[in-house]
Amino acid sequence: MIPANVIDDIKARSDIETVVSSVVTLKRTGQNLKGLCPFHSEKTPSFTVYPGTQSFYCFGCGAAGDVISFVMRTENLDYVSAVETLAKRAGIVLPDFDESDRREQGVTRTRVLQMNLEAAKFYRQMLFDEQTGGPGRQYLAERKLSMAAIKRFGLGYSPPSGSRMLKHLSSLGFTNQEIQTAYFAGKSERGYYDYFRGRVMFPIIDVQGNVIAFGGRVLDDSKPKYLNTSDTPAFKKTKNLFALNYAKNTDAGYFILCEGYMDVITLHDAGFGMAVASLGTAFTEEQARIIKRYVPKVILSYDSDEAGQKAANRAIGILEKAGIEPKVLRMSGAKDPDEYIKKYGADRFRSLIEDSGGKFEFMTENIRRKYDIDNPADRVKAVAEVAAAIADLYSNVERDIWIERASKAFSVDPKSLRADVDAQRKRSAKEADKKRRGELIRITSGLGDRVNTDFAKVPKAAKIEEGILGMIFLHPDYITREPGGRRLREDDFLTELGRRLFRFTAENAESGTFQFGLLNGAFTPDEVSRAAKMLAERADLSVNDGETFDSYVTALREEGTRHGEGADSLEAVLARRRSGTGEPPAGQP
Ligand code: CTP
Ligand code: MN
Repeated sequence: MIPANVIDDIKARSDIETVVSSVVTLKRTGQNLKGLCPFHSEKTPSFTVYPGTQSFYCFGCGAAGDVISFVMRTENLDYVSAVETLAKRAGIVLPDFDESDRREQGVTRTRVLQMNLEAAKFYRQMLFDEQTGGPGRQYLAERKLSMAAIKRFGLGYSPPSGSRMLKHLSSLGFTNQEIQTAYFAGKSERGYYDYFRGRVMFPIIDVQGNVIAFGGRVLDDSKPKYLNTSDTPAFKKTKNLFALNYAKNTDAGYFILCEGYMDVITLHDAGFGMAVASLGTAFTEEQARIIKRYVPKVILSYDSDEAGQKAANRAIGILEKAGIEPKVLRMSGAKDPDEYIKKYGADRFRSLIEDSGGKFEFMTENIRRKYDIDNPADRVKAVAEVAAAIADLYSNVERDIWIERASKAFSVDPKSLRADVDAQRKRSAKEADKKRRGELIRITSGLGDRVNTDFAKVPKAAKIEEGILGMIFLHPDYITREPGGRRLREDDFLTELGRRLFRFTAENAESGTFQFGLLNGAFTPDEVSRAAKMLAERADLSVNDGETFDSYVTALREEGTRHGEGADSLEAVLARRRSGTGEPPAGQP
């Protein structure tokens, strides 16, 4: 861990306005500054920097934090690396403890990055070496990779025999332990040996230009087809994307997401520099969040086989959850983009991009492929699947549109399709309810909410409080309303966090100075995030009028009465369980 005083020192010398300004163009508005949010796409600025509290908050997406979290998010770094980056920028030399918590067996991130760079150079040198590189060069030529692409992606080659990398890195002063931790060597009873052998090597480079890992492909059909660097002190595969270092500089407004390294390289070579791939794993939420920083839209270009289409379906859900518009490219006559371009050329691939459909087309086409729509029995099954897919949609409007479109596409009566969808939704709601109950039991049995520690005691009231606070953040003037004849008061709240958030907000709203970002100065980052969630959840809903607010306040007061009378006080149950006596504590009925 880096000592707190060192972190304070770094923060003091890293003015948030200056740091943010290198990424976002800021305009002054009063005491604060505004700009276009780097974490979601928007046309009018809602990203706000508060020099007073050295914090930022986006009213659009709820991103909030201090200068360190800003660097973590924009540069995709963990906490320690972000602090290091800021220290460097501020000219502060960190003593030895700097990397301690990213050490693995005593090996640091910096050492791994140094090794990776040396290894990339050495793999490339072996590829172009007359003695060693023949098979690698021949393989890449067979795959029709241009010399420009080979150079641009820094491809290399690891010969099949000998332990050249081990020797090379040793000669540069790296220990066997370091070399093994960085995945250049494995260890057997007979000692250390090169991990990558007889493979063409693909370096993986992060957005700052560090070589962070490698993928290595065999030259024939042997298994495993790829070996990849596993997680090291310098690499997390779920948090990086292949070729993002290039794709981030393109301006198409979307990325093409593929499955393979080869697909990406071929696409870049054919002029589609916006192609990226996940790294030997299924696409992750973290990767989606990273993409969201650069583009609002992704065209999925996965393999055309069933596995590829299943993976695409999963990726659609992950992209949507991250707020990215998913499109799916439909390809026939080739198994993947690499093969397609080599067979049909870049122009035809470009028209596939233009013809790529949305989620609806993807869903209906998959169902059509599965069933013979002209056969009545099949048709029933197909329509049931369509109904289930529509039932999953979150928004009413979207469901209405899909019902309309699907009833045309499958020639069914929209009314009966709607009835099917509704029935399906009832079933899912029941299941979700069951799950929620399970969740509640989990919370009440002690594994609770760490931010709002009172949540377990009064879950219903806590939920109502979240709604009320969300509405007040949106409409601070609501504090002057008088539901049931009197204003909302601090003691109407049943949770301690609710009380504190209300008190702070009401005090500032009273003097007309409330701004959500002020919470940054008065609450912990976790608490601010929770408050941002309350705000965001309400902002998503259209019903935040004064009457809704009043009815929430009434409901909260009813909860208060209920708990005050100890009707079914969970607190009593929990206290009893804690004391282990089975006796109700004093003062409880
Ligand atoms: N992959 C992996 N390990 C494997 C197989 C695949 O890590 N044993 C990852 C690689 O990142 C690979 C991607 O999954 O790039 C897609 O796999 P595949 O479609 O089989 O590979 P391609 O990149 O298309 O390779 P090629 O065209 O050379 O067969
Ligand atoms: Mn392929």
